[in-house]
Amino acid sequence: MSRPLRIGIAGLGTVGASAAGILQRKANAIVPKAGRSIVVTGVSARSRGKDRGFDLEGIAWFDDPAELAASDEIDVFVELIGGANGPAKAAVEAALAAGKHVVTANKALLATHGNALACLADASGLAIGFEAAVAGGIPIIKTVREAASANTINRVFGILNGTCNYILTRMEEEGLEFDECLKDAQALGYAEADPTADIEGHDSAHKLALLASIVFGSEVDLNSIYLEGISAISQEDLRAADELGYRIKLLGVAQRTEQGIEQRVTPAMLPKSAPMARVAGVLNAVAVDGDAFGEITMVGAGAGGDATASAVVSDIVDIARGRFSPALGIPAESLTPVSRSGMQAHAGAYYVRLNVYDRPGALAGIATRMAESGISLESIMQKGRGETGSQTPLPVTIITHNTMEEHIREALARIEADGHIEGRPQMIRIEKA
Ligand SMILES: NC(=O)c1ccc[n+]([C@@H]2O[C@H](COP(=O)([O-])OP(=O)(O)OC[C@H]3O[C@@H](n4cnc5c(N)ncnc54)[C@H](OP(=O)(O)O)[C@@H]3O)[C@@H](O)[C@H]2O)c1
Repeated sequence: MSRPLRIGIAGLGTVGASAAGILQRKANAIVPKAGRSIVVTGVSARSRGKDRGFDLEGIAWFDDPAELAASDEIDVFVELIGGANGPAKAAVEAALAAGKHVVTANKALLATHGNALACLADASGLAIGFEAAVAGGIPIIKTVREAASANTINRVFGILNGTCNYILTRMEEEGLEFDECLKDAQALGYAEADPTADIEGHDSAHKLALLASIVFGSEVDLNSIYLEGISAISQEDLRAADELGYRIKLLGVAQRTEQGIEQRVTPAMLPKSAPMARVAGVLNAVAVDGDAFGEITMVGAGAGGDATASAVVSDIVDIARGRFSPALGIPAESLTPVSRSGMQAHAGAYYVRLNVYDRPGALAGIATRMAESGISLESIMQKGRGETGSQTPLPVTIITHNTMEEHIREALARIEADGHIEGRPQMIRIEKA
């Protein structure tokens, strides 16, 4: 049998401590799967004295993760510190420069520096395993990078952030407001003290950028992703969605269109019958549309120590067996710049909610503006009609037939300028199941 594979883990927090614990507890069971034993020989974190929940005896401690990364005592460097720059980036670069394979759960790092790091790894025939960086325990990277080889993939989409899905699920099921659900998510440890990265969609965008690169053979390009978060979703939208047969989810979508590749992270309405519409709470889900295998949807834990560490360990086992491909699926030098299709060209149906002053001609004026922009309406609904001439605006919900985003934006700008509505229009894209 080959000599043991020596692992250095930098970052011993939620994921790092779980990964080290699994490698120790399941050491014997992993040997036949990996073809050799896997031992943690070095670790790094900030505070040395902390109990990490696994046995640190005989494991070398490094204050500097970059020193661990370059150390002769390891073959594989596992980066579980986090952050797009700083110590995580320096350590991963040091590992690749020293000829070590890398495993990481750090989507922020790879979404920002993935092209350059993949070039470094490919140049030396090294692996960068990042199954844990996208949808935690769901083996989606292996699926799109390896199992989908026979397919042309036209769309990959998913619920890529458990915090947002938890908030939207509670808002929908319990009729609670966004702020209350966010506070609960923070109290339960699902959301950070600063929740911006989750609720404004940045975390989902990091994961989508990596998926899109592998699926479309393009460079990782965070800037080509259109972003809208969930903080503007209200109870009125959730109730209207329910009545119309939809659920609202924060979706990351990358799809091939005639104009190029469209990438977006936005709240979207999914028909209740769609498998992904039923994914509730902190779970994640990813669906892949391939021309040969059809649509595959995978659902599972997108975060949590053991679920994420499970993906880390699976990457380590693949490296132990010598099973790895170029980091982004094809050699980094063959990745093409993203041929970007902007949101103005997005084609689909839309939900629109307007707070309309109850004045004669207001509704007709709105319908006229839609028609002038070439938009045909599937339905238009006004709720709670009171006395004509009342100053209190009433919610009007509209579902359009398929149209283009530039047309709907043009119509809404004109409706706003006409002065029939209070506040800004709400607009949510309806996603094809
Ligand atoms: N948590 C999840 O469920 C999850 C899911 C998917 C992906 N991820 C990704 O996994 C990575 C780790 O996340 P996590 O939740 O495990 O983070 P975490 O609990 O905050 O742990 C971070 C670890 O990094 C260590 N660290 C920080 N700065 C360091 C430095 N300069 N040198 C050495 N060590 C340093 C910390 O040391 P101390 O412990 O001494 O402070 C801590 O052990 C991130 O990239 C995250 O995005 C996490």
